[in-house]
Amino acid sequence: MLPEGVLINGLTGEVSPGTGKYTKRLSELREIFQDQTELDRLVEVEGDPVVYEVIEYRKEGSDLFFGTTTMEPGKVSGEFFMTRGHFHQRRDMGEVYYTQSGHGVLLLESRKGETKVVRMDPGVCAFIPPDWAHRSINVGSEKLVFVWVCNVDAGHDYGDILKHGMRKIVVDRDGKDTIMNNPHYSL
Ligand code: 6PG
Ligand code: NI
Repeated sequence: MLPEGVLINGLTGEVSPGTGKYTKRLSELREIFQDQTELDRLVEVEGDPVVYEVIEYRKEGSDLFFGTTTMEPGKVSGEFFMTRGHFHQRRDMGEVYYTQSGHGVLLLESRKGETKVVRMDPGVCAFIPPDWAHRSINVGSEKLVFVWVCNVDAGHDYGDILKHGMRKIVVDRDGKDTIMNNPHYSL
């Protein structure tokens, strides 16, 4: 395996060369938002907007890989566009998120139920400890682009968050992003 430099555009999230990508649209994220009736309406009226795109760069044989997540600005009834949120399958593997552009909130939750928030502003490099669930939320009016670096074996465990939700939600209250208790949270 040889060393290599990969170009990342911090404004668009483009990775050159990338080795894989996927896009998540609003209709695919129905369960994670509070107001699903409004979500259905937005899907209908706005033609199922893209919420985020993930582009990765993998190198065969490496223990690490990296990529970008590019999140569009938007809200569903005041609740900002967000990622699904997950624990890693491997409980001993954390991650790093380095914000390139835009403004977001990284919402973290430990297995024990502690909540932490790290603001995602350009230049902030967030440390995600092993076994903390993480969800990113675009609270700005432009794209939120961040670079992540992770172990290839980390994997994703979406089940818990999908089933119970996270304990906190991030909503627009009078033009300010505000962290609130999730009224739909269930254990
Ligand atoms: C990972 C990273 C990151 C994340 C995306 C989308 O573990 O691979 O945390 O790439 O997957 O930002 O978020 P969701 O996977 O929660 O939809
Ligand atoms: Ni992750």
